[in-house]
Parts: sequence; C-alpha cells; structure tokens
Amino acid sequence: MTRLMLAALIGSTAIPALAEEVNVYSHRQPELIQPLLDAFTQETGIPVNVAFVEKGLVEKLKAEGDRSPADLILTVDVARLGEVKDAGVTQPVQDAALDAAIPANLRDADHNWYGLTTRARIVYANKDRVADGEVTTYEDLADPKWKGRLCTRSFTNDYNVALTAAHLAHHGPEATVTWLEGIKANLAKKPDGGDRDQVKSIWAGECDISLGNTYYMGKMLEDPEQKEWAGSVRIVFPTFQDGGTHVNVSGVAMTTSAPNKDAALKLMEFLASDAAQKIYAETNYEFPIKQGVALSPVVESWGSFTPDSVDLTEISRLRPEALKLIQQVDVDG
Ligand SMILES: [Fe+2]
Repeated sequence: MTRLMLAALIGSTAIPALAEEVNVYSHRQPELIQPLLDAFTQETGIPVNVAFVEKGLVEKLKAEGDRSPADLILTVDVARLGEVKDAGVTQPVQDAALDAAIPANLRDADHNWYGLTTRARIVYANKDRVADGEVTTYEDLADPKWKGRLCTRSFTNDYNVALTAAHLAHHGPEATVTWLEGIKANLAKKPDGGDRDQVKSIWAGECDISLGNTYYMGKMLEDPEQKEWAGSVRIVFPTFQDGGTHVNVSGVAMTTSAPNKDAALKLMEFLASDAAQKIYAETNYEFPIKQGVALSPVVESWGSFTPDSVDLTEISRLRPEALKLIQQVDVDG
C-alpha cells in the first residue's frame, strides 16, 4: 500500500467516524426519550442530539429543506406520522430488522414510518357509579343512557380524530355523524384539557365515564395528587361492535434530507430492539410493539384486549374526513 493510499484510507474513514451522530426532532417528552437515547449511545458510542419540537414540526422541516440537520422524527399518533409523510418531509426506509420486529399493520405500507409502541384508547369508568358491563362498545358512548355523564378532551385532538377515523372505517360517514351527535349530546361539559383532566372530573363527580389513552393510568399512579383521581376509575377496554379495541402508536420516521442516514437507521433498529422496547414498556406504560417483550406489571394488571382490525394506514387515510365530520357536528361546541 502506498503512503497516498494509506492517507486516503485514513482520511476517508476518520472523518465520517468522527462525524457520526444522529439528530432527532421529537414531539415526545424529554424525560421519556432520554433514557432510550442514552442506552443507544452507551451501546454504539453514537451521540444523539434531540430538539423537542412541540408545534410546527412540518413547517420547520419544510423551511430548513435540504439543510435540515434532522435525521429522525419521533412522535405520537398515526395522525402526526401521516401528516409528516403527506407533507413529503420523510423518506421510505426498507429494513429487514424493522420489518421483522414491527407487525405490518403498525407500520406504514410505504415504509415512511414505523410504529414503536402501542396504546389503546379506552374508557375510564367510575368504580361506584358505573356497573361492570355497563359500557362495552365505542358505539355505546352515543347511547342516551350516558346523557350528562361523559367527559372527553377536544374531539379535534389527534387521539379522538383517530378514534373517529376508526369508527368511519367500520360504519361509514352517515353512522359516524349520528355517533358524534350522540356523543355531543351526552357530554357533561365542554371538552377541555387532556385525558387526565377528564379522570379528575370523574373523581370530582362531574361525570361518570371518559375517553383516554391507557398509559395515562400509569402516569397518574406515579403522581401523588393524580393517584387519587386514578383510584376513582377502572379501565374498560371497549370494542367496536364488529371489531376490537382502538389502538394507536408512537413511532419514528426518517427525514427526506437525513444527513446521517446510516447512524439514524441504527437508532431506528435500536428503538425496535428488546432493550429499548423494555424501556418504553416500563417508563411510559405503553405496549411494546415487539412480540415477546414483557409488559410493565402495572399495564399487565389492566387485563388483556383484542386490538381492532382496522389497520393504521387506513386510519391515517380517513383522518381528514373524520376531522371534517367532527367539525361539521361541532362536537366541542
Ligand atoms: Fe398522550
């Protein structure tokens, strides 16, 4: 080997090795994401930089264009994953390890995003004022027997838009309008706050049932004040009449301009690994997406359920129509 060849070799390997890093734009909370990223850096030596972008993620990525430092987007809800895909700020990633770890119905058919955890959208029911078996389906939430007894966050929130999209997939637009009107008629008060605020309202006696995501139960139990709210309710896994319980994801997507593609793919694979899935399960009370990874004991105590059969690509596709119907009915009004 000539000196020139050696210099070229050192030059070409040393520079990328020094520059290897991953930049993440995240919608997810810092305290949840950091333990995962630290574990990745410990295993691979690759540093990860995170920018928490609460709002305007698509606008930011579009404005930055090809010069964006971002490699990966971490976010919750198929609505937001669909939004970044539709905006053209993500690229397809074909990867055997990701395909093996993540079931096909929980990742984008075009490989633009991958689910990393799941969460069910369930009913929190007051332990005293709601009998066992009194609420079993999502359709039932529109029944007049719940008049003045139902609390929810805004129906234009992504979580409720996805649930409405699932209803749309099962029953079509006409029945969905009727369902939304029924829900609106049953509301104890104007939708406000997050999922945990609705449980607080149940605890305070303002309503008897609410819609919420499963992991909030775990989060409430960790908090001295919210623990009391959590104690006033039990989790009911409703199903669609002709389906199962509505499940959504948190997920990851690679940006169109990703400057550190190889390292970013390593991080994607890591997030779908047993080690990372265990962290997700235990720190955020989510359901690991990978088969064989244990649930947190708290989550396990809520019991099992059958996830709905409508796949998330379909939910994502129906999202704009669902939002239109929610606005037409003016559920929050
Ligand atoms: Fe949430």
